[in-house]
Amino acid sequence: MKQTSTEAEQFEKIPTRIFDSADAAARTLANRIAEIIREKAGKGEQAVLGLATGSTPVRLYQQLIRMHKEDGLSFKNVVTFNLDEYYGLNRDHPESYYRFMQEQLFSHIDIPQENVHVPPGNIERKDAFGACQEYEAAIKKFGGIDLQVLGIGRTGHIGFNEPGSTVDSRTRLVTLDSLTRRDAARDFLGEENVPRYAITMGVGTIMEAREIVLLAWGAGKAGVIQRAIEGPVIESLPASMLQGHAGITFYIDQAASSQLTRLRYPWLVGPVEWTPRLIRQSIVWLANHVNKPILKLVDAHYGENGMSSLVTELGPAYNLNIRIFNEIQHTITGWPGGKSNADDTYRPERAEPGKKRVLVLSPEPQDDVLGMGATLSRLVQQGHEVTVAYQTSGSLAVSDEEASNATNIILGAASLDPANAHTSSAFASQVKQELAAKGTEPSDSKSIRQLKGLIRKEEARASLKVCGIAEDQIRFMDLPFYENGRYRQFKPQSVDVQATVELLEAIKPHQIFVTGKLADPSSVPAITYNVFQQAWDSLQNAAWKQDCWVWLYRDVENPCEVHEIDMAVPCSPEELSKKIEAIYQHRSQHNQNPLSEGDVREIWQQAERNNRTMAHHYDALGLAEYEAIESFQKL
Ligand code: GLP
Repeated sequence: MKQTSTEAEQFEKIPTRIFDSADAAARTLANRIAEIIREKAGKGEQAVLGLATGSTPVRLYQQLIRMHKEDGLSFKNVVTFNLDEYYGLNRDHPESYYRFMQEQLFSHIDIPQENVHVPPGNIERKDAFGACQEYEAAIKKFGGIDLQVLGIGRTGHIGFNEPGSTVDSRTRLVTLDSLTRRDAARDFLGEENVPRYAITMGVGTIMEAREIVLLAWGAGKAGVIQRAIEGPVIESLPASMLQGHAGITFYIDQAASSQLTRLRYPWLVGPVEWTPRLIRQSIVWLANHVNKPILKLVDAHYGENGMSSLVTELGPAYNLNIRIFNEIQHTITGWPGGKSNADDTYRPERAEPGKKRVLVLSPEPQDDVLGMGATLSRLVQQGHEVTVAYQTSGSLAVSDEEASNATNIILGAASLDPANAHTSSAFASQVKQELAAKGTEPSDSKSIRQLKGLIRKEEARASLKVCGIAEDQIRFMDLPFYENGRYRQFKPQSVDVQATVELLEAIKPHQIFVTGKLADPSSVPAITYNVFQQAWDSLQNAAWKQDCWVWLYRDVENPCEVHEIDMAVPCSPEELSKKIEAIYQHRSQHNQNPLSEGDVREIWQQAERNNRTMAHHYDALGLAEYEAIESFQKL
């Protein structure tokens, strides 16, 4: 078990390095791997690496490829063992981990193919046990793994060791958890195409590696990372078992670290500098912790809960309470675009110009209404000129069944007017044939993607109609990185940035709403956010930019916490129902979205619950009691 290295890390049972970005973490690990490879090469030995799949390690592989090409790092003396493989897939299946590794790493470096080991996915059931034993024997034959790279699934799994795996489990055939299969649904273009079983190294196999580095990026992993690092060792969270390893380190980015005690509750782990943000964060926590509204907190509450330094430095409690109560009070506004002619000293948005040009950027259709459906309606009602731009079509998230239904409708409509039906029915027939030919292959032809994109666009129009937004205020950007790419393999380029620059220049907004800042860097919201950020940075001299405020809305999986909010827009019961109606228009998405752990709700229910929960939080702090609240951070 590790020695705590600093006071701040006293709750952490696994050494954890927090990096500014996923790329910085990947570079550091790539250097460590290169060091091992060179050291072994110097002794004429082989370096044995345990490798992982998923989006997380892709950046690491990119760094290794770069080091091979630019720094002459050779992999001739490297032997690799991958953690796992889907059972039932051939090696050349687009989603097999074997193929993934070839595409992401092996085909770009000089590793001898015979040194590459990935568990066999395409064997008969009766042969599985023997094949697993052979895999274990091969690892032993090469002297065990020098360094094992791991990602982490949302169930806390490592490899495919789902909850319930024991610490001494070995390489074996396992059944995949339903949340894991949902998370993989997008890769396979539908949950029904995701294999039910996999072959994975066991926790025991992993624990025998001499050194282990687990990587995690994005706010979506923050909860599971906190539990793995600070919680008890439990089989229901396999990654927690890594606490028992002497050579384990977690390399995580800022967003994935956000739930660790040293960041979430720093005043509980040692002396802190009381910044305005931290004061708000701690007092909101204290009020929740002692179950009192802010204005009823007294010095003793502060003193008994590790916050006496705050009272000593900036107290008494009475003053602190009023200050934070007012601050939070001032985040509430029914005028998300600012209230014209009003005193805006304590309002989140400027009063003028009274009629603003507002641009809402939505990574895929539905992200907009999930995050800010009620605010969108308000902005329109209050006379602002609102444009919603869908950065991608979201076509990859439409099931084949939906697409097939749509072809039938087109063919049906064509038969009503045979004289003019030629083109549309030819298109529909082609898509129908391609869908039939595709089977469970997780790749769609151009026409299938076009049709699926049309489905989502139509849903988006219907959804925005509910919010009062006219068709001519909607932009479908169809950014090329998405239209030409596939999940986990998107490669944003300058054309994506250029299209975004053009949109910004055409609208010259006073207000922009964006999302994706804290998302997993390989996800669509994170990519579109980065594309926006680059476009924004490139517009240094634009005059309109000086007068433009950017607001961040959060995704359903990672809602804002009270202390993070700069603008809270309350919704009446009617506004909340209307928002749900707007979300509901995205029919093709029902049951398509991965939900929170242990949660069987649909995504619109989760959005509703988030907004209601936020209203409860405000109420519990002693502020007004609303039905629901949508929340925003100012960037
Ligand atoms: C799969 C893999 C794991 C991986 C996990 C997380 O379940 N078998 O090895 O850690 O996905 O994937 P991602 O990195 O895409 O978040």
